[in-house]
Amino acid sequence: MSEECDIGLIGLAVMGQNLSMNIASNGFKIGVFNRTYSKTVDTVEIAKKENLTIYGYKTLEELSKNLKKPRKVILLIKAGPAVDENINNILKYFEKGDIIIDGGNEWYLSSEKRIELCKEKNVEYIAMGVSGGELGARYGCSFMPGGSKYAYDCIKDILEKCSAKVGTSPCVTYIGSGSSGNYVKMIHNGIEYGDMQLIAESYFLMKHVLKYNNKKLSEVFKKWNEGILNSYLIEITYKILEKKDGLTENDLIDMIVDIAGAKGTGKWTMLESVERGIPCPTICAALDARNISSFMDLRTKTSSVFKTVIGAVPDNNTVTINDTIAKDIENDLLNALYCCKIISYTQGLFLLKKVSEEKKWNLNLGEIARIWRGGCIIRAVFLDRITNAYKNNKDLELLFLNEEFANEIKNKLPSLRKIINIATTHSVPIPAFSASLAYFQMITSKRLCLNMIQAQRDFFGSHTYKRLDKEGDYHTIWE
Ligand SMILES: *[C@@H]1O[C@H](CO)[C@@H](O)[C@H](O)[C@H]1NC(C)=O
Ligand SMILES: *[C@@H]1O[C@H](CO)[C@@H](O)[C@H](O)[C@H]1NC(C)=O
Ligand SMILES: *[C@@H]1O[C@H](CO)[C@@H](O)[C@H](O)[C@H]1NC(C)=O
Ligand SMILES: *[C@@H]1O[C@H](CO)[C@@H](O)[C@H](O)[C@H]1NC(C)=O
Ligand SMILES: *[C@@H]1O[C@H](CO)[C@@H](O)[C@H](O)[C@H]1NC(C)=O
Repeated sequence: MSEECDIGLIGLAVMGQNLSMNIASNGFKIGVFNRTYSKTVDTVEIAKKENLTIYGYKTLEELSKNLKKPRKVILLIKAGPAVDENINNILKYFEKGDIIIDGGNEWYLSSEKRIELCKEKNVEYIAMGVSGGELGARYGCSFMPGGSKYAYDCIKDILEKCSAKVGTSPCVTYIGSGSSGNYVKMIHNGIEYGDMQLIAESYFLMKHVLKYNNKKLSEVFKKWNEGILNSYLIEITYKILEKKDGLTENDLIDMIVDIAGAKGTGKWTMLESVERGIPCPTICAALDARNISSFMDLRTKTSSVFKTVIGAVPDNNTVTINDTIAKDIENDLLNALYCCKIISYTQGLFLLKKVSEEKKWNLNLGEIARIWRGGCIIRAVFLDRITNAYKNNKDLELLFLNEEFANEIKNKLPSLRKIINIATTHSVPIPAFSASLAYFQMITSKRLCLNMIQAQRDFFGSHTYKRLDKEGDYHTIWE
């Protein structure tokens, strides 16, 4: 009577429902369970309409009994205590060699605790980042599985078939041991924050300096999407700018409140960057921008105090921008955006590299860039070049030290400086651009202003300092 499912899935919200259909449509027998049984019934019905067979179970025990050994179950539920509760229940039925895969956006340290818990029962654990949203879950996403290598080999076939493909290459690879799958997904999301903010700032600059209307803006992004910036986020940006509002005569973008939410993975990236002392200022600027946006009342009040007008040139409204100048600025902006993208990825990947060394995860950054090529929100042609950069040198310390990227930055840096000047003149805030340039200037400078900081620390706190010309620690009686 047992159906002998290849794999089980727990948690039938949108992602779970879609992933189970994806797994079924790739020819695997999948059993599903959700605490609320009606959800399970719904899923089986929805699948039936697409001629897919999904086996629904009323209890976890039943699901567990119907899984082929070694049993494999994917959890797709809200990260946090609900996951612990489910794992505790699963462990009642699972035996040595069985496999639990958590596909949620989990804080990596929580996964590390669960790995230990499962180890006590010899149950194998995978913490897996999943990117691609609902459509990705249904038709192919990017999987970032880390943890037990044995377990990965057991589910490799399923993951490869259900992942997005770029050409014939599946967007999945074994990430590394422990909680590395969560960590890589977290960095992916942090990088996504940076990309989104850089694009939003580009939009804002063209809108307020070049005075482009939405149609024109959409055309620019569409054109950019055909070049080096070809990516999902640029694509949706031009589509957003084309969209008419259904309720008024306006374009939809102009009717949307300028306050952005966040679910927490960007914040985690920042916390990690601060905790480990590996700065990611582009991502930080993106996160700060979202938080600043939330103070709508305060923004309104202060703008009347300071008479702030975005796009206005203070004390001088005579700046005219004709078509030729506009075209130049547009081109500089494209270069600047690309330049910042390289700088932002450099920061995120540097954090990943340092943590990988510390935790002995042995991450292959080139492979990670490769599996971000499809399915993910940050998917972009640009990622191929990152993969190649690490193929040339797997120990590459900073991404932009790769010769090709280095040359590009050298060529595009004047554009970035120009864009920051223009934005400053026209009172257009572009914090992610500015933070990227500042980071670049600092990390590539032999001399920084921090000699003054160290002198101040020694002055008021006897923290001592080192000298350029002699070894040892020095302290000065300053007064
Ligand atoms: C089951 O479905 C409900 C309702 O959609 C959801 O809140 C819950 O988290 C799901 N997952 C589990 C494991 O029961
Ligand atoms: C399901 O199968 C039936 C009968 O073969 C067919 O008529 C129908 O179009 C199929 N539906 C889908 C969504 O493929
Ligand atoms: C600021 O950002 C954090 C992290 O993303 C978020 O949890 C918080 O709700 C935000 N605060 C405000 C006031 O929007
Ligand atoms: C106003 O802008 C023009 C053009 O950029 C510049 O030549 C001029 O000096 C500015 N005037 C003031 C008062 O800043
Ligand atoms: C645009 O303005 C620049 C600078 O003022 C000027 O040199 C150029 O001739 C102008 N081009 C057109 C097409 O008006």
